[in-house]
Amino acid sequence: MAETMKAICPAPRLRVQGMKEYHPPLGCRDALRLDFNENTLACSPKVREVLGRISAGALTRYPEREPVEAVVAAHLGLLPAQVALTNGVDEAIHVLFETFLEDGDELLLPVPTYTMYEVYSSMTAARVVPVQAADDLKFPFERLLAAITPRTKIVAIANPNSPSGTIATRAQLIEIARRAPQAVVLVDEAYFHFHGETVVDLVGGLPNLIVARTFSKAYGLAGLRIGLLAGPAELMRWIKRVLSPYSVNSVALACLVPALEDAAYLDWYAGEVVAARSEFETALDAEEIRRWPSHANFILVEIGPRHADFVRLMSDAGVLVRDRSSDPGCDGRVRITIGTRQQMRQAAAALHDAVAALKIKGDAQ
Ligand SMILES: Cc1ncc(COP(=O)(O)O)c(C=O)c1O
Repeated sequence: MAETMKAICPAPRLRVQGMKEYHPPLGCRDALRLDFNENTLACSPKVREVLGRISAGALTRYPEREPVEAVVAAHLGLLPAQVALTNGVDEAIHVLFETFLEDGDELLLPVPTYTMYEVYSSMTAARVVPVQAADDLKFPFERLLAAITPRTKIVAIANPNSPSGTIATRAQLIEIARRAPQAVVLVDEAYFHFHGETVVDLVGGLPNLIVARTFSKAYGLAGLRIGLLAGPAELMRWIKRVLSPYSVNSVALACLVPALEDAAYLDWYAGEVVAARSEFETALDAEEIRRWPSHANFILVEIGPRHADFVRLMSDAGVLVRDRSSDPGCDGRVRITIGTRQQMRQAAAALHDAVAALKIKGDAQ
């Protein structure tokens, strides 16, 4: 039976056949998960309250995105027509690429960067033009400008970037948008709350700027899958045509408003992470582990040839971290999410033992 089914199995599009499989690592229940850059603690208690009040009857109805889009737009100082809520920023990237990338177009990507840009571009007919950062992993501004061509259709910039934690400046982003007027410049501010600088105020002013924000990181709602795109209404109306009207579920929509309103919780969590980041940097320096200056809730560190053993030893000690060795220019590098100070003290202790066991102190300096 299985064989017969295989013989008549319809073939997917050639592009899909060429796509790499993406297998996110699975979490183990009791470990400290520092491998996904999530909020490592919880969402706001106000969100929990709303969750508890959702009735069975409410779940029978299709979700209504627009009223919540209006609330989010007001929160960002924008018009409802300038905002689209999405099933996480991943869906936002997917829909943006499907909306704008044609055969022969170029997607400009400073690399290393967030993996899903390349994954979603591979379903389109566009060509990825990677712009490699130097060893310091600083934003490759000049090289990026030089790589702009009349075929550049999207420039995707995670700011702060993952896995490096480094940033592009506001002036650089504005210059890129000006130098590539034929392209959408996507500024993905998934880690905005740990950095504090944004270009969302330029939405509508710059005709080709689109900003993405997620509720998966500082807000602690990764499991609900909710994000957004903010851009000029003239671009957003095309995106909204492609976007499924129901891809953001009603539970996520109900939780979004209290999440936005509880600024105190968000500030507290982001402040805790920033304090933990600085403490953890001190611990890394004591271990003589090379690190890149991070503006996000993670730090990229250089472990060297024994990176896989390091990740395994950390996992054995109950701390999950992410090997980024296969990212362009990242061989031997591991990304560690920053949680609370207490969690990072546990991580620092595990790291100390792993470094001692592998005798890698100072190796990668
Ligand atoms: C730069 C960047 N953008 C987007 C995402 C995904 O966001 P979401 O959970 O909203 O799909 C991530 C997740 O790691 C990310 O690092």
